[in-house]
Amino acid sequence: MDNKTAKKNINALRRELERHNQNYYVFDDPDISDAEYDKLFRDLEALESEHPQLITTDSPTQRVGAEPSKEFMSVTHTIPLLSLANAMNEEELREFDAGVKKLLEIDGEVEYVGEPKLDGLAVELVYRDGVFVLGSTRGDGFVGEEITRNLRTIKSLPLRLVGDNSFPALLEVRAEVFLPSEAFLELNKRQEKREEKIFANPRNAAAGSLRQLDSKVTALRPLALYCYGIGASEGFSATDHWEILNGLRELGLPVTREARKCNGIKEAMEYFREMEKKREKMEFEIDGIVLKVNDLNLQASLGQRSRSPRWAIAGKFKPTQETTVVKSISVQVGRTGALTPVAELEPVNVGGVMVRRATLHNQDEIDRKDIRVGDSVIIQRAGDVIPEIVSVITSKRKKGSKRYKIPDKCPVCGAAVIRFEGEAVHTCQNQSCPARLKESIKHFASKGAMDIDGLGDKLIDALVDNGSLKNVADLYSLTGEQLSAMERMAEKSAGNIIEALKNSRETTLGRFLFALGIRHVGEQTGRLIADEYASFENVKNAEMESLEKVEGVGPIVAQSVWSFLNEKENLKTIYRMIEHGINPIHKGGKVRGKLAGQTFVITGTLGQMKRQEAKEMIENAGGKIASSVSSKTDYLISGENAGSKLSKAKNLGVRILSEKEIIAMVRSN
Ligand code: IVH
Repeated sequence: MDNKTAKKNINALRRELERHNQNYYVFDDPDISDAEYDKLFRDLEALESEHPQLITTDSPTQRVGAEPSKEFMSVTHTIPLLSLANAMNEEELREFDAGVKKLLEIDGEVEYVGEPKLDGLAVELVYRDGVFVLGSTRGDGFVGEEITRNLRTIKSLPLRLVGDNSFPALLEVRAEVFLPSEAFLELNKRQEKREEKIFANPRNAAAGSLRQLDSKVTALRPLALYCYGIGASEGFSATDHWEILNGLRELGLPVTREARKCNGIKEAMEYFREMEKKREKMEFEIDGIVLKVNDLNLQASLGQRSRSPRWAIAGKFKPTQETTVVKSISVQVGRTGALTPVAELEPVNVGGVMVRRATLHNQDEIDRKDIRVGDSVIIQRAGDVIPEIVSVITSKRKKGSKRYKIPDKCPVCGAAVIRFEGEAVHTCQNQSCPARLKESIKHFASKGAMDIDGLGDKLIDALVDNGSLKNVADLYSLTGEQLSAMERMAEKSAGNIIEALKNSRETTLGRFLFALGIRHVGEQTGRLIADEYASFENVKNAEMESLEKVEGVGPIVAQSVWSFLNEKENLKTIYRMIEHGINPIHKGGKVRGKLAGQTFVITGTLGQMKRQEAKEMIENAGGKIASSVSSKTDYLISGENAGSKLSKAKNLGVRILSEKEIIAMVRSN
């Protein structure tokens, strides 16, 4: 194909993909199946790789993230990004309305627009002639950081606006970037597995993800955004805020459907109460509403204070906080030997959820808040976030209470506990500490790892306690008799476990590396290493320098893998497993799907895809399809007229997804 034709085809494909993207993310109304979308995407990729000189940054193929940068450049905002004054309760919202009326000298009602106040990070997106050219953080309101490449990875952000060539010459869009609650929980789970930083709330997670110097990392976090206003513009006109929101939506920019026109403070108040009730059920965190005077002329007459407009206010919801008492502080020992202090609380209901425990993270965290046994504390739960202690009510502290120190002996095996310089955690130094052994075996047997069905946590604890398991490799010498002798173990289930152990021996190299519980090696890293070396022997013989060069593996991970595989005891265990027939094979190709390790069942009639297409889509993303619902099922995809599978899934607590949701899940890959 000559250059000119290629260019034409590439452009047509890009426009079409962008249009489908917007139908999907902005208008919630996709008109092609996921498989068709993927086909178009692959066609574009193929054409671009034949004609690399035609690749431009606004191509949908370029959302994957670019080479890391050394630092962020600063961007001076043409019009400062203001902040909002807060109303902490209904009373203060009424005062705001009264103030507005007084300044405007009007007796009647003021028309407002109510919007959810998203708890994320404010950004500015600059579109020139319909093309996304520059993105920045709010910064101090005047100067922010340039994060264009990171913003490009957000799937719902249009790289080009929709329209038939009549775009505003300039449009600065103000938006809030956030991590939907579900994605936030998943990210934290992943972070925990990899022993990486846990984010306190979706807001921090969104900020941390956006301010990544390596946009490839950002691309792995399913961020989303909603646009709520504009800055400078040329060729975009509106007389009120409601028109601005609609105008943005028409250009293909995502705008929340929860915004509402409210005539007068009474309606605004109803909106406030409704949103507060709805809050728990929303797919993202909101911490209040924003009320904005609708008429732009009135906005102009009201003007602004130094940092916030007089025409808008944030109505904050009550945080879900409660007070309770720390009954005791216990210490858990994880599989790497890390000690985690946990506050055992007098049970208390926080926003509908009973909270009994709260993690205290580490000694520094305890010292910073000075949390002691017997203290009355304020605990907080934001949405689904793990409960945390916000502060101690020191006035209620009992006399004679002492500062809490993590013990210097392991609470499980009594071995020395050490905190190395520069580290926040205390670790038990005994490699064969029963707590570490138990946790390592639980990890080894878990779903994403060796997936040994029926080998539950309690059973593992008991088998370590009675001496049947002294090492992970002992799993493969377990006998049916040993298992049937355990309490509450039917002969049949003992047999099933032996069978599951046998089956687990056929695994992939990536899973096996993950299962070993090497520090910093999660499912994804395991797969990346497997892709590179293809056999266990190759990984074992790899030099540090070679490991460091593997995509997604930096010096820290390389060091960790290398040390693990150069430790005699570890190798002894691994070779014992190999002797027992463990055969980690590498299934070539670089397919590492987001759904790896998860089992899906499909039921009912799907709307957009044929069942076979859905099946292929899931399998291509690494998921497994099963025909019936069991406790092993992770998700049920439920279409119309779903029958007994749906009720069974509900009974078993299996998560249920609509067709749209599974497509979104795969696309967010
Ligand atoms: S309007 C001049 N609308 O809240 C108006 N802000 O406390 C300035 N925010 O920095 C902002 N949702 O990050 C506006 N619907 C919404 C919002 C919103 C969240 C954030 C934004 C801003 C902060 C101010």
